[in-house]
Amino acid sequence: MRKFNVGIIGATGMVGQRFAILLENHPWFNVVVLAASPRSAGKTYKEVVEKRWCMTKPIPKAFEDMIVRDATANIDEIAKSVDFVFCAVDMKKDEIKALEEKYAKAEVPVISNNSAHRGTADVPMIIPEINAEHAEIINAQKKRLGTKRGFIAVKSNCSIQSYVPALHPLREKFGIKDVLACTYQAISGAGKTFETWPEMVDNLIPFIGGEEEKSEQEPLKVWGKIEGDKIVNTASPKITTQCLRVPVSDGHTAAVFVRFENKPTKEEIIKIWKEYKGEAQSLDLPSAPKQFLNYFEEDNYPQAKLHRDLEGGMAVSIGRLREDSQYDYKFVCLSHNTLRGAAGGAVEMAELLAAKGYLD
Ligand SMILES: NC(=O)c1ccc[n+]([C@@H]2O[C@H](COP(=O)([O-])OP(=O)(O)OC[C@H]3O[C@@H](n4cnc5c(N)ncnc54)[C@H](OP(=O)(O)O)[C@@H]3O)[C@@H](O)[C@H]2O)c1
Repeated sequence: MRKFNVGIIGATGMVGQRFAILLENHPWFNVVVLAASPRSAGKTYKEVVEKRWCMTKPIPKAFEDMIVRDATANIDEIAKSVDFVFCAVDMKKDEIKALEEKYAKAEVPVISNNSAHRGTADVPMIIPEINAEHAEIINAQKKRLGTKRGFIAVKSNCSIQSYVPALHPLREKFGIKDVLACTYQAISGAGKTFETWPEMVDNLIPFIGGEEEKSEQEPLKVWGKIEGDKIVNTASPKITTQCLRVPVSDGHTAAVFVRFENKPTKEEIIKIWKEYKGEAQSLDLPSAPKQFLNYFEEDNYPQAKLHRDLEGGMAVSIGRLREDSQYDYKFVCLSHNTLRGAAGGAVEMAELLAAKGYLD
């Protein structure tokens, strides 16, 4: 694979910092641009982030002296230096939509962590192990935008990446009618640490703005089908969720209840999880976990602290599968919200699109 020159838009934020760590020694991607708001522009990356660095690994040496660019004012100049950009910015939805479209129209593919374009029918929302084939909609999107190589592809919300991976191979084989999922979400999902959000120590907040809507709607797009120039959401399963913020630094857990069209045995479910491989595994993408779905027999697993970093934080951990008195089965699953659920998932999606030729 040739090397691609990439930019990180929103490089100074929490997800942006995670991108910096993941891309420091990436075999295919070479970071040449770090961009953020006008507040940070013109300063070195180290100057901007050293007081708010929240990764456990240090600021990558190669990026310390890079001058942060203004992500909105310098689009044409940035477009000349990069093959594509990752984008994770905290701006109003309309502003993000406009910013991402400007990059795409400047012929820069945008791999986005933002939610602004998740509802746009010709923007694929790809989890490479689940719906890699949705990349094909990019051709229709480029036609709409009038571009040769510029497009937008988005990553789903972090909460659904704890339970949709576990449900996916079961849905393919047995059909799923109903899902109830309660998520227990880490504070890094709000871009926070215990230092910046001390109210979360010894606390639980039973509300995360917009999260339940995203958690119920986004799986329907991920499981949707391309029809003509759009992705049409699937009508089933019916999904209901409650999303709670819990005092955990990283790692979203979900307690899931599921009703099947054809009820499988417990052994069949576990076998399917153990054997499941997606396109990320068949293409052997650099960020793909070897074992995507990991089932643990221990009653007190999976645990956020013990399992969130499995396979570089890209694997999903599952446990406590048992029959339920109202649904068919219930189980618990966990994934790392800023790795699998955010920057790691976006890097893996970019690897998929590179392997399929969309970034050439
Ligand atoms: N945290 C998560 O786990 C997570 C997971 C999935 C998706 N996301 C999404 O990712 C995005 C970023 O989240 P975050 O947690 O990294 O936020 P954050 O820590 O607040 O960082 C926000 C970034 O946006 C930049 N920014 C703000 N206003 C800007 C402007 N006018 N022009 C250009 N850049 C601007 C900031 O630059 P300055 O430093 O210069 O202000 C900073 O780099 C959000 O859309 C969020 O919903 C987050």
